[in-house]
Amino acid sequence: MRRNAVFCVAAGLIGFSAAAHPAAAHSSSPDQARITAGRLIYQQRCAACHGERGEGQAGWQQRDAQGELPPPPHGPKGHTWKHSDAMLYRIIRDGWRDPFNKTQRLTMPAFGQTLAPSEIQAVATYLKTLWTPQQRRFQREESRNQPFPPAAQ
Ligand code: HEC
Repeated sequence: MRRNAVFCVAAGLIGFSAAAHPAAAHSSSPDQARITAGRLIYQQRCAACHGERGEGQAGWQQRDAQGELPPPPHGPKGHTWKHSDAMLYRIIRDGWRDPFNKTQRLTMPAFGQTLAPSEIQAVATYLKTLWTPQQRRFQREESRNQPFPPAAQ
């Protein structure tokens, strides 16, 4: 609680909203630019399925009538934070489907043809702002040996 209060004051002093961008206080400015770009990409390309604020679709843990898993949330309740940077990059570039889906199609579309490598990294970096500090720490560890590919940096 006290840490939050200090964080908010600090964030207020340097002029951005702590509530909207909790990761920002720990970010260098290149990351901040990436987050801003990533948020825009998210709104244009991802929000229709994953929700404006990454809340996912209702019943995302249950297979639907076609035997497919609906778009999951990206925030603390989802499991996006369990994937390394390399894996997040691959999911967004190549698309993804749960191997147990009853259909074969990629329910998570591939963005490798529509987003540049730096844009894929930007939108993945934006997703990190939706996680708790503990989740961010875990994911940073996971990414130590599985970073974004050099082409994206
Ligand atoms: C047409 C709907 C749709 C769009 C658009 C879409 N996704 Fe997805 N996404 C899905 C679905 C459905 C899944 C779950 C697939 C599964 O597990 O079967 C998913 C899964 C994911 C996952 C894996 C999450 C996890 O917990 O394992 C990530 C990361 C992701 N999407 C990121 C994105 C990003 C970033 C964008 C925009 C660039 C995007 N998605 C756009 C439908 C979509």
